[in-house]
Amino acid sequence: MTEQAKETTADTQVARIFEWRRGFNTIHLIDLGIKLGLVKALAETPGSSAQDLAGKLGLHAPYVETWCKTAYGMEILDADEAGRWRLAPFFDVILANSAHPRYLGGYVRLGTEVAADDFQRLVEAFKGGAVKPFQGRGESFAQAIAESTWGLQVITAKKLLPDLPGLATRLQAGGAILEIGCGTGNLLMLLAKSFPATQCVGVDIDRESLDIARGKIQAAASGDRVQARQGTVAAATQPGTFDAVVMVEVLHEIAPHIRPQVVKESAAALRPGGWMLIVDETYPSTLEEMRKPEFKFPLMTGFEELYWGNVLPTREEQEKLLRDAGLTGAIQRTIIGEGFTVLAVQKT
Ligand SMILES: C[S@@+](CC[C@H](N)C(=O)[O-])C[C@H]1O[C@@H](n2cnc3c(N)ncnc32)[C@H](O)[C@@H]1O
Repeated sequence: MTEQAKETTADTQVARIFEWRRGFNTIHLIDLGIKLGLVKALAETPGSSAQDLAGKLGLHAPYVETWCKTAYGMEILDADEAGRWRLAPFFDVILANSAHPRYLGGYVRLGTEVAADDFQRLVEAFKGGAVKPFQGRGESFAQAIAESTWGLQVITAKKLLPDLPGLATRLQAGGAILEIGCGTGNLLMLLAKSFPATQCVGVDIDRESLDIARGKIQAAASGDRVQARQGTVAAATQPGTFDAVVMVEVLHEIAPHIRPQVVKESAAALRPGGWMLIVDETYPSTLEEMRKPEFKFPLMTGFEELYWGNVLPTREEQEKLLRDAGLTGAIQRTIIGEGFTVLAVQKT
């Protein structure tokens, strides 16, 4: 008998259901706090009473009181003896500062607005495998995705890419980066800033995301140096012209039947010595992995994005894609954050 089985009782199982149910409510509580401005007001003015908050935001005071008490109980807020509220440590950054890499408001919103709706539709979808793909879900969806992945964009631009041996030197001297699945263009803009001499090209197949990306490129007056192109990699780029090809939260979004082709075209777009950098999620390959902490996040993504038609690749599938694309160098693999995989391989 395992350690876990010995300790399992009907009461502990019941407690788990109540805990998950509280998690569901807490995510909605946070979302409401962000949308109503309560989180921002508490970040700006710690030590506010519910009455102060209600007055400042034009809200119904008894409801705000209940929000504050519940948030206190869930340890999102702290309080003093006089019942004045403030955000618990670090939540000013995590929930109130959308420019910070640790901001998770977008991920919360993706749950309340997108996942909650998709889960309802799964009841029908399970009967025949219906999907509603990423593309064409609209601007608000594209923005929620961009907010959710913001931290990954920052770490990719500031740490993961510059740390690849020899790459920063090539990019500082000019060079070119290709981003597959550039979405709303946040990473392109960060890269353009970090590497002012580099050509930054993004490709995507989602028109709504590309429209947002092009707006940012235009606003930054980057001219031809930064481009967001629509279409497949092969149609939008020339082989052997990039020093790095990067994908952030994209590999698992590419339809499985075209994935080998997209990775092959991406590898072909690299110059010799160039780097392929993939930041994505790795689906567990075994029962044992399904219960490992580092696979919990990808396991849930696989469920949450079922209705998008996404199939997360396992480690073996990721490596086969890279090898079949002709990338023979050592594959560097690390796990960051809640369970994101970073894969890097150099074209020889
Ligand atoms: C989860 S979003 C990530 C967007 C962006 N990289 C980010 O991190 O915010 C996945 C993106 O991959 C794009 N995508 C999916 N299949 C693609 C393909 N075959 N070629 C180019 N982009 C693709 C989607 O349209 C979407 O914009």
